[in-house]
Amino acid sequence: MARIIGGVGTTHVPSIGKAIAEKKYNDPYWRPFFSGFDAVHTWLAREKPDAIVVFSNDHGLNFFLDKLPTFAVGAANEYRNEDEGWGIPVSHAARGDAAFSWHIINGLVADSFDITMCQEMLVDHAVTIPLQLMWPDGNWPLIVPVSINTVQHPLPSMARCLELGRSVGRAITSYPQDLRVMILGTGGLSHQLDGERAGFINKDFDTLCMDQLATDPEALTRYTIPQLVELAGAQGVEFLNWMAMRGALTGTVAELHRNYHIPISNTAAATVLYENRPRLLRRAA
Ligand code: DHB
Ligand code: FE
Repeated sequence: MARIIGGVGTTHVPSIGKAIAEKKYNDPYWRPFFSGFDAVHTWLAREKPDAIVVFSNDHGLNFFLDKLPTFAVGAANEYRNEDEGWGIPVSHAARGDAAFSWHIINGLVADSFDITMCQEMLVDHAVTIPLQLMWPDGNWPLIVPVSINTVQHPLPSMARCLELGRSVGRAITSYPQDLRVMILGTGGLSHQLDGERAGFINKDFDTLCMDQLATDPEALTRYTIPQLVELAGAQGVEFLNWMAMRGALTGTVAELHRNYHIPISNTAAATVLYENRPRLLRRAA
């Protein structure tokens, strides 16, 4: 059976791609951010995931305002990246596994998630940057991309994204193949790229979100989307991807590592690593 080994939440700012291309790992601006991945690299080397379910939002490369699914799941054997106009190198394609994707899609629809299924899907910086950060050698595990609308309102609620993750988690653990699966949620934390509050960052709220995500994610569902926009910024709503990631960790969760650094570009940059241990069944007395 497939096993969920853990999850990572991380920022996906495009300029990280440029810094990687220019090998700026030890540059004073970048070091506090890149060094946050040392612990993740150690964990990945030990845990060796075969597959990753990636919750992220598309930024107009694949979907645009004319047609924007609330939830879309890739069902392809390959996901290409294209030039997004940020001046970062186009990355190589990510491998997929259509059979594994269809299993997850079946589970989601059975759980009443009316998702869009995509037998062709491009992936943007929200997928490629975190993969490059975690596997600098380019040797990525296969992915199942799940795209959540964080762009055009109305957005799905915090509770709905947590439930989406839980449904994905249940589907993974019922997959008969022996895959070691990790979950990735990208974007955030607080940031706003445009308007009067451009540059907005909220360290207190980010800290609260990371604290509660680890121990009591349900508590975060008290925030409405307008409250999330106010507290995290118009693009800070990308935290919805982190909620889905946390929902998919269906076992006992331990936070192994956290890094928080202000700013990377316009964003409060954060990385968290969760371990997911199978829940122990209590024996009858
Ligand atoms: C930035 C952050 C994002 O999440 C994004 O998708 C693009 C740019 C930024 O801070 O520059
Ligand atoms: Fe983004």
